[in-house]
Amino acid sequence: MGSLVDYDKHYRKGRGQCGDPFPEFAAFFAGYDRRRARVLGCGQGRDALLAARHGHEVVGVDLSEIGIAQMVEDAEAEGLDVTGVVSDVLNFRSRRKVDVVLLDRVLHLLLDDDERGVCLGRAAGFTRKGGYVLVADVPNNRALIHGYFDERPQGWTVVKRTKNYLFARKN
Ligand SMILES: C[S@@+](CC[C@H](N)C(=O)[O-])C[C@H]1O[C@@H](n2cnc3c(N)ncnc32)[C@H](O)[C@@H]1O
Repeated sequence: MGSLVDYDKHYRKGRGQCGDPFPEFAAFFAGYDRRRARVLGCGQGRDALLAARHGHEVVGVDLSEIGIAQMVEDAEAEGLDVTGVVSDVLNFRSRRKVDVVLLDRVLHLLLDDDERGVCLGRAAGFTRKGGYVLVADVPNNRALIHGYFDERPQGWTVVKRTKNYLFARKN
């Protein structure tokens, strides 16, 4: 349990350590017609802030206290609806089902495929019917991520599939 990298030390260097939001996520939220969706996602908040700027209610979960503090400060400065939770994604509990779960380049930081499978299962469990799990990760994890959803064709419809991305809607 935990992470292969301590991101606190990266985030201490300043904002924007993960870069701008990926165009794939920006396009998803630009085209997502649900209003005030509940979204889970995190890091320093590039995706969380992106989603919140579209009017959604976001809970950001990350191991990095610094990343969470930076995200919350930036969200407050813009008056956005973002809550930060310092937690391991493998322990985090959501009281409510959510509309969108973002796993943006977090899976490759988990210790092994068992943890990655547990994380995907938890993300899937948090998602309401009709909601989405949006995953970006390294090509090495492609088979595991695509396999997770392909093995559950009754439960999920894959709406985007590339080398680095898989977006799936819960049936
Ligand atoms: C490459 S960064 C991506 C951050 C964010 N998802 C984004 O795309 O901007 C990876 C993030 O995963 C977090 N992380 C790694 N393992 C974690 C775990 N087990 N639970 C929660 N967060 C974790 C790190 O602290 C770091 O913020």
